[in-house]
Amino acid sequence: GLEADLAGRHVVVSAGGTREPLDPVRFIGNRSSGLQGYALARTAVARGARVTVVAANVALPDPAGADVVAVGTAEEMRKAVLEAAGSADAVVMAAAVADFRPADYRESKIKKSETAGPAPIELVRNPDILAELGRIRRPGQVIVGFAAETDDVLANGRDKLARKGCDLLVVNQVGPDLTFGRPDNAAVVLAADGASVQVPRGPKEALADVVWDQVAARLG
Ligand code: C5P
Repeated sequence: GLEADLAGRHVVVSAGGTREPLDPVRFIGNRSSGLQGYALARTAVARGARVTVVAANVALPDPAGADVVAVGTAEEMRKAVLEAAGSADAVVMAAAVADFRPADYRESKIKKSETAGPAPIELVRNPDILAELGRIRRPGQVIVGFAAETDDVLANGRDKLARKGCDLLVVNQVGPDLTFGRPDNAAVVLAADGASVQVPRGPKEALADVVWDQVAARLG
């Protein structure tokens, strides 16, 4: 990807991990650092794209040349992604979006003394942003998802690709010491047309460039 093959294109990348608040001081979150999303943003800028990054709780310097929209929760991410996606040629959902959020948000800090024993936390489903993008996409718009799996990585990936209606799904194995907060990644890029590209362990930029190669090949 040395040539500016994304020149004139607008791409949206989500990065980081959402936090779903319980009260003013507590949240349910995940281990996503935003490194892969920011690598996608930097490489897209290098290839000439206009880049919007929707960043959830990322503690990294902004990728140079990209517009960054900071969000906290899945609902906030949905709003920002859908707004940016309206003019986008491609959307890459690299963020770890919480599947569930606490049913109630408590305006005051929850006190230990409120219950005799551990209180259950009731959860409700969050919107699936990727699935929604797959449903409402314009003709020619390329939609890319990520899947972090711990077991049956490829079978789960194929299943998810079909269910979410995306063009490409990047599947990586996660677990202790794999992927999270590390500068390198290994993955398989699955395509809805049946193709797949194996990306050996390497810098997250290398995986990002493979993703953009696959996106560029599918843009009209
Ligand atoms: O279903 P799962 O969470 O494994 O799917 C992962 C993919 O779906 C990622 O691309 C993630 O950004 C996206 N996702 C989403 N909205 C959710 C959950 C996941 O867009 N509520």
